[in-house]
Amino acid sequence: MQKLKIRGGRRLVGEVRASGAKNAALPILAASLLCPEDLVLSNVPDLADVRTMFRLLEGMGVVIRREGDKVVLNASRITSTKAPYDLVKTMRASILTLCPLTARFGSADVSLPGGCAIGARPVDQHIKGLEALGAEVTIENGYVLARAGRLKGAHIITDMVTVTGTENLLMAAVLADGVTVIENAAREPEVVDLAECLNKMGAKIEGAGTSVITVHGVERLHGAEHSVVPDRIEAGSFLIAGIVTRGDVLVTHCVPAHMDVLLAKLREAGADIVTGPDWVRARMTERPRAVSVRTMPHPGFPTDMQAQFMTLDVLAEGTSSITETIFENRFMHVPELQRLGARISISDHTAVVEGVEKLSGATVMATDLRASASLVIAALAAEGESTVDRIYHLDRGYEHMETKLRALGADIVRVSE
Ligand code: UD1
Repeated sequence: MQKLKIRGGRRLVGEVRASGAKNAALPILAASLLCPEDLVLSNVPDLADVRTMFRLLEGMGVVIRREGDKVVLNASRITSTKAPYDLVKTMRASILTLCPLTARFGSADVSLPGGCAIGARPVDQHIKGLEALGAEVTIENGYVLARAGRLKGAHIITDMVTVTGTENLLMAAVLADGVTVIENAAREPEVVDLAECLNKMGAKIEGAGTSVITVHGVERLHGAEHSVVPDRIEAGSFLIAGIVTRGDVLVTHCVPAHMDVLLAKLREAGADIVTGPDWVRARMTERPRAVSVRTMPHPGFPTDMQAQFMTLDVLAEGTSSITETIFENRFMHVPELQRLGARISISDHTAVVEGVEKLSGATVMATDLRASASLVIAALAAEGESTVDRIYHLDRGYEHMETKLRALGADIVRVSE
């Protein structure tokens, strides 16, 4: 089991490059199943979840090769349309293979992901949408079994805004016969990135980035080249790490417009934020002011930044409230932050954070991906040494995080036991 040892209290100063977004890379990798020609991708982050998606696709017969910094996927010889439980249980995003497999091969057996640490997270909207497009879907032995001839365009209104649900249904609709309209669609930049990649492959998608997406189905897709959009969550995490250490961090290769709400909140906290076309610089000389946030689907405040933002409030002057509206159990970082000296109380879906002047190092346990990042950030600001345990969660979604933090001046090492 690997851990991070962090000696806190150093200002983070310097430049760090944002990687490609995990949440864009995963659906786009799954989109390779939609055509028999090469899909050539750049800016694919080197992450545990990406490697899991490679294993899943390779198990289906997709040939994946690396050419320099590019990843080339070829799904001309698919030998299996099954996503086995062993892989799905380690990565929920495996469900993203359901619709491309059904759309192109008329058959998919994808294990149900089950619950996860941050909540129940059902996939009923994926299934209902696929049924609306004409597939027969049953659940047997823990697997979603989808069978279909050519899918047929349909009018779909999802019950809630779902990111991977929207992405999955997009990947079904692109090969359907006729027009599909997805209402209440997720507007996340990662949905837009997937749609852009699919359009390069010959799909006809309009309205991605709005809540109504229209897809004119085509008979087949072809090969394409695409660069994965930068990771706004990783970029935001580094900005917050800079701010809580009263440092000066410049994140390059990012899209500031994808971080509008976060940047507004960081300014409200007193940070000096300057943006350029593809960079953001955050400087902080004093203690942050407490700022309340409420998570919402994009363009609202992202749930994937909630835990990291909480570390800022933990060290801020004043009291703030953080309300989680997307996932029912996404405050597992709270008891761990308390071990570092944070003062937080939870009532239903709201955490009330009373800022403290200092945190002090301790051993803490990562519970999920973004919670891990919040603990690392808090440890960077804490006095003395901290150990963050179970960092396999962190490795799922942050590319070489400790190397990047070290380059900014952090005292952080990975140790194996
Ligand atoms: C994606 C992101 C994840 C992020 C989340 C919300 C990926 C790979 N993961 O997850 O990092 O935290 O969006 O921004 O992109 N729901 C249902 N039924 C469904 C689908 C969703 O009830 O069929 C519920 C979920 O339980 C949750 C809410 O809808 O309460 C939103 O979930 P969703 O947007 O689907 O999250 P993911 O796509 O799984």
